[in-house]
Amino acid sequence: MAAVLTTTRLLGVGSYVPDKVLSNFDLERMVDTTDAWIVERTGIRERRIAPESMATSDLATRAAEGALEFAGRSASEVDLIIVATVTPDMMFPSTACLVQRKLGASSAAAFDVNAACTGFVYAVATASAFLSTGSYRLALVIGADTLSRITDWTDRATCVLFGDGAGAVVIESSSVNAPPGEILGSYLAADGTGWEVLMQPAGGSQMPASRETVDARLHSIKMNGNQVYKFAVRAMGNAVKECLSRCGLTCDDLDLLIPHQANMRIIEAAAQRLGVPESKVVVNIDRYGNMSSASIPVALDEAVRAGRLESGDIGVMVAFGGGLTWGATAFRW
Ligand code: UT7
Repeated sequence: MAAVLTTTRLLGVGSYVPDKVLSNFDLERMVDTTDAWIVERTGIRERRIAPESMATSDLATRAAEGALEFAGRSASEVDLIIVATVTPDMMFPSTACLVQRKLGASSAAAFDVNAACTGFVYAVATASAFLSTGSYRLALVIGADTLSRITDWTDRATCVLFGDGAGAVVIESSSVNAPPGEILGSYLAADGTGWEVLMQPAGGSQMPASRETVDARLHSIKMNGNQVYKFAVRAMGNAVKECLSRCGLTCDDLDLLIPHQANMRIIEAAAQRLGVPESKVVVNIDRYGNMSSASIPVALDEAVRAGRLESGDIGVMVAFGGGLTWGATAFRW
């Protein structure tokens, strides 16, 4: 009997962060801020910064190599690569194509997804849908961002928040009913009326690069922090509940929450609303800051390697970001 390919499973995880550490004390020498303010308002103590010689595809490739090794698969077996990023190497071709070449994954279709900080959750849902059709078998999903390249290092309201990194997962289609790592379901949402709250204004077709846009620093991140904050707490709570309910589960079934790492206070407020104790929440924002699409897969990789997920545990990855976008994906480890 022909296998029915309706299930997808997480086979491997990997991550990469650059060596260079930029601490809050380093930032004190760059802008009018203090370690105390940053820690109290955000929970961030330090972040990683990629060297000039590395672009997003380089970070992504390192993370992907780690995930493939974990999965025991080779790049030649991969038939789909999706990179979630807001800091592609260039406008086109896609970063996924550059990763495909660097890995030597010559059989893979490759494209990028842009859902800002929700990008990785969107990309996992997209890959899962492709794999569920049976037309694709093995996908690499990567969240990678080099936010240091679009950060205004003179703006204390944003430059203290961001860092560089990449994380990846290998997902395969499976005919087995309840395999380890099974992706149970996703919930994705967007509200385009909030697009101005968080963006990089220049460099696209609406405001092409010019001497004026560079002088006005319009190629860097602009954000209304307070508005994003309020939206984030609500969106994270709703996404987790909606995603779990679509899988026939509730917060009581949740063993590990892997949230987007934007602000410690947002994570705590969302967890509190959901009634999820601190011990079930993965946090690494103190060491990496906000790495956009990379935050969740790096946190997932660290949690898996630290043994925080046991066989059969229910995990939920949840994110929010520019767009506005938000969403969650549930899996059974
Ligand atoms: O992935 C999604 C991306 N973004 C986010 O998730 C960000 C969400 N928002 C936040 O995390 C918070 O809104 C921030 C951390 C960005 C800001 O925290 P806040 O508690 O909302 O502070 P605020 O913007 O209300 O600013 C309070 C004060 C202001 O001074 P005044 O007007 O009260 O005199 C700011 O100018 O803090 C000042 N301030 C700073 N002071 C020292 C802003 N940035 C800094 C800084 N150091 N780095």
